[in-house]
Amino acid sequence: MLIHSAAGGVGFAAARLARESGAGRVYGTVGSAGKIPYAAELGYDEVFLREGFAERPAEVTGGRGVDLVLDPVGGPIREQSLTVLAPFGRVVAYGDLGRHPQWTASVRDLWKGNRTIAGCNIGDLARRSPERIGAYLAEALHLLAAGRIRSGVTRILPLAEAATAHQLLETGTGRGKGFLSVA
Ligand SMILES: NC(=O)c1ccc[n+]([C@@H]2O[C@H](COP(=O)([O-])OP(=O)(O)OC[C@H]3O[C@@H](n4cnc5c(N)ncnc54)[C@H](OP(=O)(O)O)[C@@H]3O)[C@@H](O)[C@H]2O)c1
Repeated sequence: MLIHSAAGGVGFAAARLARESGAGRVYGTVGSAGKIPYAAELGYDEVFLREGFAERPAEVTGGRGVDLVLDPVGGPIREQSLTVLAPFGRVVAYGDLGRHPQWTASVRDLWKGNRTIAGCNIGDLARRSPERIGAYLAEALHLLAAGRIRSGVTRILPLAEAATAHQLLETGTGRGKGFLSVA
């Protein structure tokens, strides 16, 4: 599988969780070369620059492509993600960091290649099916307690530095998961 924004809060956890869920090879993308060594420590087999990434999955899978792409970026990245799928593969969209709310996909491209785009939203899932989210959380905590996944907390800033935290989010320069402390 391929995980975009591999060094972000979700990407931090996603590589190891993917392996725990049975993924054979896990690839990631990041927005700048400086993040590649950091992301490589998180359990990815290989991390690519997001710019020009679309050539890489075919190269590393012997032309096969990947079965699953996790995409919080959207727009052209989502479009290119469809092209790196193996037959019967799926792109799961869970955000719109690139702010392309009007982006559309060709249904023809989907059915011609047996490809799927799916959506995922943890907030909606929690409202509709709290018991399911509870079971997922229990499973994740079990993995955390067993040391099979790690917490992605990379910085804790005092509330007075909220502007710095926002700047990290807006510029996409953060790594892992940051917290604001109100204590
Ligand atoms: N649907 C859901 O249930 C769900 C759950 C959690 C999070 N989300 C969403 O998923 C996204 C990622 O969450 P996260 O916790 O991993 O976020 P994060 O820790 O803030 O990471 C965001 C990373 O995305 C990358 N990015 C790509 N395009 C960007 C842009 N235009 N502006 C800013 N950053 C950009 C940046 O890294 P690189 O450029 O190096 O890749 C940035 O560091 C967010 O939009 C969040 O709201 C959705």
